[in-house]
Amino acid sequence: MSKPILVAVAWPYASGSRHVGHLGGAYLPADVFARFQRRIGNEVLMVSGSDVHGTPITVRADEEGVTPQDIVDRYHNEFVRQWEELGISWDLYTSTGTANHAAVTQDMFMKQLENGHIDRRISEQFYDPQAQRFLPDRYVEGTCPNCGYTDARGDQCDNCGRTLDPIDLINPRSKLSGATPEPRETEHFYFKLSDFQTELETWLKSRKGWRNHVLNFALGWIEEGLHDRAITRDIEWGIDLPVDDLGEGKRIYVWYDAVIGYLSASKEWAAGTDDPDRWKHWWENPEAESYYFVGKDNIPFHAIFWPAQLMAYGGLNLPTNVPANQYVTFKGGKASASRGIGLTIQDALDQFEPDAIRYALAAAFPEQSDTEISVAEIARRVNEELVATWGNLVNRVLSMTNKSCDAQILEPGPYSDEDQALLDLVDAAIVDAAAQISAVELRAALRRAMSSAQAVNAYLNATEPWKVIKVDQERGRTMLHVALSAINGVRVMFDPFLPFTSAKISDILGPIEGWHRAPLVIGTPIAKPTPLFAKVELEADA
Ligand code: MF3
Ligand code: ZN
Repeated sequence: MSKPILVAVAWPYASGSRHVGHLGGAYLPADVFARFQRRIGNEVLMVSGSDVHGTPITVRADEEGVTPQDIVDRYHNEFVRQWEELGISWDLYTSTGTANHAAVTQDMFMKQLENGHIDRRISEQFYDPQAQRFLPDRYVEGTCPNCGYTDARGDQCDNCGRTLDPIDLINPRSKLSGATPEPRETEHFYFKLSDFQTELETWLKSRKGWRNHVLNFALGWIEEGLHDRAITRDIEWGIDLPVDDLGEGKRIYVWYDAVIGYLSASKEWAAGTDDPDRWKHWWENPEAESYYFVGKDNIPFHAIFWPAQLMAYGGLNLPTNVPANQYVTFKGGKASASRGIGLTIQDALDQFEPDAIRYALAAAFPEQSDTEISVAEIARRVNEELVATWGNLVNRVLSMTNKSCDAQILEPGPYSDEDQALLDLVDAAIVDAAAQISAVELRAALRRAMSSAQAVNAYLNATEPWKVIKVDQERGRTMLHVALSAINGVRVMFDPFLPFTSAKISDILGPIEGWHRAPLVIGTPIAKPTPLFAKVELEADA
């Protein structure tokens, strides 16, 4: 049965170049998962877009002396181009800067207000006496009240992961002027997160198959007691409020609007089809599933706030799973020293083929704990694993088939036990890999694909068809058929991870149809192959 599957991916701030850690933490795992789900016949809707609001954008614009829109345009265009180059298979990649997104956000606000889950409160916020303005979120830095980290940002501490209220920072300083900010009263709308304390806890405790670190983090928060959160700020850059109760100079703040992007993007996508109500298939249908691919800093937003917003709105599906990743950290290398943010996606694209980047990151997806990557490590994985095992195997068997089988796929003779054992092994691996990807254990599925390729290599080394063919042509040709048939199965497992080279194999063996090893088509011509992957040469100091 075909299932509607929403693949929801963290909205990257259009405030600067994203690095390979973001790619390995959210975009790539989401893409692998989505490609697999489509392959098994599910109806995937994969959406995200650039997050164009919030202080990350305006702080950057202030630093450069340009408008927030200039910053947004620059990075949104960069992201769109990179997704294309990396083969991230969005159904829609949009932004939170659209009229549709503003309308959907305002609708959500109004409904939650009517339902009594939003109210108005006066509170103290930091005000910069020199710059003469309020300092929301990242405009204040200081010491984390939770862990004592001295460079905590006003909205979140990078050290302990806690989301913060800037007013709670110890030794606060203004990012605008360096001045010590002073508290001043201001009125804002609050989302009554505490209304959902029990409902969220019950819901989280009923989740099956969630990663332990995600569930523990979310439940830990809830056990400490949920606090109502201000959802407006004293800013100019943000979505307008649908009511004018607060007067001038107030906007909806980014944490409230960005997560609504999943819904607004689904509606935008549907509006472009012949059925504008089609989004309901993923959001209102109880059979539909939704998976939110995010980094661990986004766990509170997706496992607590967004579900609470959905509960406050009513009638829409809650997340099926939030398979948040830990971090991919970058070690060493020139890019790190000069830019201070690790290897950017562009740095990686400048040095490696897209499938090479995809492979090296997928082999190190930080599903359970942080992992480390470096340029040298990407190169090593590409050369020692991807090229040496998979690339060479495909090349070797296609070459031998070209040379010894009249350059085509021939009808095989009877299979030996050894032949059948290899094909059974591959078939079992394909079944296992499906279960692993369904459970979002993508690394394990990739390892299963690789170990199957190794098994085909081991079969060839043990049976040596190139020798047999000289004394018993029929038997030798059958062995090559078996090896190629095994490859025809192994490529199914690699396909979601390596779409570009997978397409090259499809040009030779025909398209992949479904998640299984299809029989080879007798008579298919097999030309002399070209290598799937180039070996990477590294500069000595990289
Ligand atoms: N732009 C924010 C970030 O990159 C939030 C992304 S996920 C969202 O961390 F759903 F909240 F937008
Ligand atoms: Zn902290």
